[in-house]
Amino acid sequence: MYKTNTCGELTAKDVGKIVTLAGWVHRRRDHGGLIFIDLRDRFGLTQVVFNPQTAPEAHRIGSDVRNEYVLQIQGVVEKRPAGQENHNLATGEIEVNVTAAQILNPAKVPPFVINKNEDVDETLRLTYRYLDLRRERMQKNLLLRHRVIKFMRDYLDARGFIEVETPILTKSTPEGARDYLVPSRMRPGEFYALPQSPQQFKQLLMVAGYERYFQIARCMRDEDLRADRQPEFTQLDLEMAFVEQEDVLNLVEDLFTALVHEVAPERKLKTPWPRLTFDAAMDKYGSDKPDLRFGMELTNVSDIAATSEFAVFKNALANGGQVKAIRVPNCAEYTRRELDELIDMAKARGAKGAVTIAFRADGIHSPASKYMTPAEQNAYAGRLGAQTGDLLIMVADKPKIVNDALGALRKELGARLKLADANELAFAWVIDFPMFEWNETEKRWDAAHHPFTSPKPSDMHLLDSDPGAVRANSYDMVCNGYELASGSIRIHNRELQAKIFSLLKIDAERQQIRFGHMLEAFEFGAPPHGGMAPGIDRFVAILAGEDNIRDVIAFPKNQQAQDLMMHAPSDVDEDQLEMLHLQIVHPST
Ligand code: AMO
Repeated sequence: MYKTNTCGELTAKDVGKIVTLAGWVHRRRDHGGLIFIDLRDRFGLTQVVFNPQTAPEAHRIGSDVRNEYVLQIQGVVEKRPAGQENHNLATGEIEVNVTAAQILNPAKVPPFVINKNEDVDETLRLTYRYLDLRRERMQKNLLLRHRVIKFMRDYLDARGFIEVETPILTKSTPEGARDYLVPSRMRPGEFYALPQSPQQFKQLLMVAGYERYFQIARCMRDEDLRADRQPEFTQLDLEMAFVEQEDVLNLVEDLFTALVHEVAPERKLKTPWPRLTFDAAMDKYGSDKPDLRFGMELTNVSDIAATSEFAVFKNALANGGQVKAIRVPNCAEYTRRELDELIDMAKARGAKGAVTIAFRADGIHSPASKYMTPAEQNAYAGRLGAQTGDLLIMVADKPKIVNDALGALRKELGARLKLADANELAFAWVIDFPMFEWNETEKRWDAAHHPFTSPKPSDMHLLDSDPGAVRANSYDMVCNGYELASGSIRIHNRELQAKIFSLLKIDAERQQIRFGHMLEAFEFGAPPHGGMAPGIDRFVAILAGEDNIRDVIAFPKNQQAQDLMMHAPSDVDEDQLEMLHLQIVHPST
C-alpha cells in the first residue's frame, strides 16, 4: 500500500504516530523556511510540513512540487502549534512533520483551478471531466449520489425486493422519445433499440413470478435536452405484483421520506405528502408538477367577470372559457416594461394577452380600468385577498390556455420573488392522469403515460365513446416543481391491452410485431401488477442544490448530446460500417 492512512482521518489521537500519506498537492505555501502543503485525497486534506533543518532532502522535493502533483510522504503526526488549528477541517488539529517524500507523478498546470469552487466554463469542465471530478463540489455530489443509491438498494432489499438486470440491447419500448438504435452485424438490416426504460421487462418479471423487482436502471432516450434531461439517465425502476395504486404510493413515499431523513436530515419535509388529482393540479397551479413550496394559486374569478363590461372577459366566457387570476405580492409598482414582459410570457403560452391590476397607495391602476368599475376591481381584490402593494394578473381564455399561461407566470414570479424556501422538499403525488392525449399532427390519441397503463375501472365504459375523458391508474411523484417519478397500475389482460393498442392506432399486425410477446405473456397467468420509476439524477440534483442534472452525473453529455472528453459520438472506420452493412448518406447542408 502507498499509504498507512487517508488524508481525512488523522486527529489529535494520532499524535506521535509515524505515517505514510499519498495524494495530490492541493495547496502549497512556501514560508521561506518551512513549506506547508495541504495534501488531498478523496477522504480529506492533511497539512504536511517540510522543514529544511530536520529533513533537507524532503524539503527539496517540497520545493519542487506544484499543485496537483501526486506526492507520497512519510512523517510524524504532531499537534499544530496553539492558535494554528483549523476547526473547519477534520484533521485541523494536527500536521505531519515530513521526514521523507517522493513525487509519484508530476502534473501539468491544470486548465482550471481545482482547489477553489470557482465558476468554470462548462465546455472546459466537460472536456477535462477527470479534473472537474477532483473538485470538492463534484466529489460531494457523487458521494451523495452513491449514498442515495445505496440507501435505495438496502431499503428495498430489506423489504423483499430483488435487483434484476435487464438487457441494454433490446427492442423498442415506447416512452415518448426517439430510440437509440444499434445495427446488428449478424442480421443485416436489423437493429436493436437501447431501452427507453425497462418497462416491458419488469412487467414480464411479474409474469415470471418475481413479485418485487427493482433495478438501478440506465435508460436511453434520443430527445431534445434540457437542464433536467440527459440522453442517458438513471432510474430507480421498480415493479410489484398483487398491488394496488395505494400500495405503490405508500412504499415509495416511505422510501423517499426515510431516504431524506438519512442523507439530508437538515432538509424540511412534510409528511404525509399531499395528493392532488391531475385536474386539481392544473386548476390550482397550472402545472402537473407544481412547486408547492409557495402559494400564489390560480383563482377562478369567472363569476365576477360574468358581470363585467370588459369585452375580453365577456367574449372568453361566451366561448366556454374562463377568467382566472394570480396575486403577486408587493409588485404593484412594476413598470410598464416589467408588466409587458409578463404579458409576453403569457402570450408565449398561447394566451391572447393578460390584464394587470395594480393596487397602489394612490389608487387602482390597470390598462383595462376604463372597462371595469372600481367595484368590480375591488371584487377581484377581495377574492384573491389582494392588499395595497399587490398586483393581480388575469387571463381569460379556454381553461387549458389560462392554466398554461398563469402556471408559467406563477413559476417565473415564484422564482423571481424567491417565494420558495430553498431548504424545503415539497413532495406531492399527482394522481388520476388522463389516459390519452390528443396528437393534433397525427390526428390520433397518444398514451399520456405509456401504452401499458391501465384505465380506471370506473372509466372503462368511456373508452370507445369519449377516450379524452378516460382517467388512468397512473401517478407522478413531484417535488419543488420537478416531475421526479411516474408510474401506473398496468394492464394484465390480453384483450384490454389489445384494445388500448387499437385505440392508439396500432393495428393488429403491428401489435403482433411490436408487442406480441407481451400480449402472449398475459395469457399465461399474469398477476395484477404496478410500479413506478423515480429519476435518480433529478432527485440527487434537487438534494445537492444543483440546477442541472449534468452536475450529479460523473460523465454526462452536453446540450448537443456529445461527450466532450471521449469525443463521442464519432466517426467509425469504413470496414466497421461494411461489417454492419451500413452506408452513410451525409445530410446536404
Ligand atoms: P417516465 O418516462 O415518466 O416513466 O420516466 C420516469 C422518470 O425518469 C426521469 N426521466 C429523466 N431523467 C433524466 N433525463 C431524461 N431524459 C429523463 N426522462 C425521464 C424522470 C421521470 O419522472 N417506465 C416508466 C415508469 C413506470 O411506469 O414505472 C417511465 O420510464 O424523473
